[in-house]
Amino acid sequence: MLKGKTILLGVTGGIAAYKSVEIVSRLRKEGAQVDVVMTKAATEFVSPLTFRSLSLRPVYTDMFAEPKSWNVEHIALAERADYVLVAPATANIIAKMALGLADDFLSTVLLAVRKPILVAPAMNQAMYHHPATQQNLKTLRERGVHIIGPARGFQACGSEGEGRMSEPAEILAKLMALISAKQVLQGQKVLVTAGGTREPIDPVRYIGNFSSGKMGYAIASAFAEAGADVTLVSAPTALQPPVGVKVINVLTAEDMYREVLKLYKDQDIVIKAAAVADYRPQICKEQKIKKSGENLVLELVPNPDILAALGEQKEHQFLVGFAAETENILHNGLEKMRKKKANMLVVNDVTKPGAGFGTDTNIVSFLFEDGTRKDLPRMSKLEIARELVKEIAALKKEKDTKKKE
Ligand code: CTP
Repeated sequence: MLKGKTILLGVTGGIAAYKSVEIVSRLRKEGAQVDVVMTKAATEFVSPLTFRSLSLRPVYTDMFAEPKSWNVEHIALAERADYVLVAPATANIIAKMALGLADDFLSTVLLAVRKPILVAPAMNQAMYHHPATQQNLKTLRERGVHIIGPARGFQACGSEGEGRMSEPAEILAKLMALISAKQVLQGQKVLVTAGGTREPIDPVRYIGNFSSGKMGYAIASAFAEAGADVTLVSAPTALQPPVGVKVINVLTAEDMYREVLKLYKDQDIVIKAAAVADYRPQICKEQKIKKSGENLVLELVPNPDILAALGEQKEHQFLVGFAAETENILHNGLEKMRKKKANMLVVNDVTKPGAGFGTDTNIVSFLFEDGTRKDLPRMSKLEIARELVKEIAALKKEKDTKKKE
């Protein structure tokens, strides 16, 4: 499965470094080429020679060592890797990754990497539970980094708790799962919309909504991770664009309508996660509206329904809509899906705690064209996005085989 793949393994200074020796050995058996980068602290636990003997390749430890080949090595390593695994990952490297620090060879490579990254934390349980570490792990997760473990159990320092590095077998299983997931949408063109549109009232005011864009950005990230060629049409958000995704920024529903319809023909999958304003002020005043003490009436006119327009013009595309409901979610959802001719709908009850706008988690159900549904438990938005990738990949595969028959 790993034939022809290059895995970059970062080893940092924890007692679990000895387990990474087994990881290299297993990766080699699966046919992968393994480039090992060790921090200085890691070399105190295991000798670079051990990794060199198993990987049959140079081991990198020092930013300023005599280069092993004539290129800018940290960049070359980052570009050559198909996947990056940091195991064990100390609290220190996790903090450096979260902040984007680059003060040694490994952290510099990690900052240059644009490929999927897996991190297997290993540290004392108190360090693991420290709010700083938890916040850093959350930051990495939001950026699409895969965190494996840690496991619970007896620790080198004598205490017991969560913080042991996951076993090599589990780490490899996660890597394999990611690789097979990655191949599922290779080359597919995916358009995702995200954020809440803003409808100007005058030069300083607008009508908006509470959408944070987190769900749509997580979806863009998960599809890019699955090998798709992703374009994200985004209404304003406070989020960083996901790595490897082309972003088109828009403001209003009409802007979004224009951009999305321009791109529609070439797309294989379209996911409309944006919260599009149903109405906009009929006129946007040229000057700021002054207060008068009187009631103010704004006349609103309907915006185009982008999803419905895409449904009307659908050819080969797989169309996914979203619905934020506050009551009768399944009944309203099914109705919405049929009306807008979507192939699938993601519905959530925004009134439930842990669901909806601004939160990092969501509780959703997937509704399908044949009237069936799948309820997911409360999950992070990125986990939901990965579930969505899996569902759509399976449905598309089914459709394609039917077409061939
Ligand atoms: N949507 C859209 N264009 C609009 C309004 C909504 O493309 N002008 C899309 C959203 O991106 C989402 C789906 O339609 O994928 C459902 O949006 P929602 O606002 O929940 O449904 P509406 O059709 O607007 O119905 P209602 O507000 O009456 O519940």
